[in-house]
Amino acid sequence: MLSYRHSFHAGNFADVLKHIVLLQLLEHFGKKDQPFCCIDTHAGAGDYRLDSGYALKNSEFENGIGKLWHRHDLPDAVARYVQLIKCANSDGKLTHYLGSPLIAQQLLRTKDRLCLYELHSTDVDFLTASIGKDKRVKIFHADGLKNALGLLPPPERRGLVLIDPSYELKTDYVDVVNALIAMHKRFATGTYALWYPVVDRRRNQTLERAIQTSGIKNVQLVELGIAADTTEHGMTASGLIIINPPWTLTAQMQTILPWLTNVLGDNGVSFYRIQTLVEE
Ligand SMILES: C[S@@+](CC[C@H](N)C(=O)[O-])C[C@H]1O[C@@H](n2cnc3c(N)ncnc32)[C@H](O)[C@@H]1O
Repeated sequence: MLSYRHSFHAGNFADVLKHIVLLQLLEHFGKKDQPFCCIDTHAGAGDYRLDSGYALKNSEFENGIGKLWHRHDLPDAVARYVQLIKCANSDGKLTHYLGSPLIAQQLLRTKDRLCLYELHSTDVDFLTASIGKDKRVKIFHADGLKNALGLLPPPERRGLVLIDPSYELKTDYVDVVNALIAMHKRFATGTYALWYPVVDRRRNQTLERAIQTSGIKNVQLVELGIAADTTEHGMTASGLIIINPPWTLTAQMQTILPWLTNVLGDNGVSFYRIQTLVEE
């Protein structure tokens, strides 16, 4: 039984980093003429209201997209991300947040494809409504971690797989690595972005070691921490492990991450990591 609802967390500091990276990756794919396929194994509801319901419970978006909304000094890549969210808030008030499926949908060209998996029956209905009629997009009410393998390699031979689980179960940390290994075996040239939270640093160390010893090459990690590691206050940092990133990503993150760390983090204890987990 799934209890996680992304609506509580939409637009928080973790979404900001994840969606900026997603945007960078898809912009890179869009630079070449050949079509690409994007697979989102844990799509969520797509469109999130920030002015009512779950989002107001802890107002997590206030220390995320909320802190970027009115600023005029955004680094370029951050400005492009905020602009995407502004397109969904035409009156200038921040009332909607776009999840990964809607961000990806905006980056698709006519020839590109987007495949979305969502297991929660309520969220899959929201997702279907928020995507609307779009021949480029396929939505599966199914387990993305198990079933996305069947889509690989995509006929386009160019593609991104975003893996963004809720980590409700501790076994998720092992399952994601096994899924990545299996997917990479089928589609070794694909780009993969695995999101992770930092709740208990020991789990992350185990996850990183498992990737490092998996045999997969060319792996980068980017992480933003808004508070020091602790096991007592829930998620204090989050990041992405990216296989086969575009060569431009590290340089872009070297500009973006220090800036985000200052703007979203607690003075003195916030931090970022940009690390090569496995060389090419
Ligand atoms: C972190 S949220 C996704 C957020 C979304 N990717 C975004 O960035 O906007 C995780 C979602 O995965 C769904 N989920 C959990 N396990 C799943 C699975 N095995 N396959 C597909 N969806 C799953 C949950 O219902 C939840 O909506």
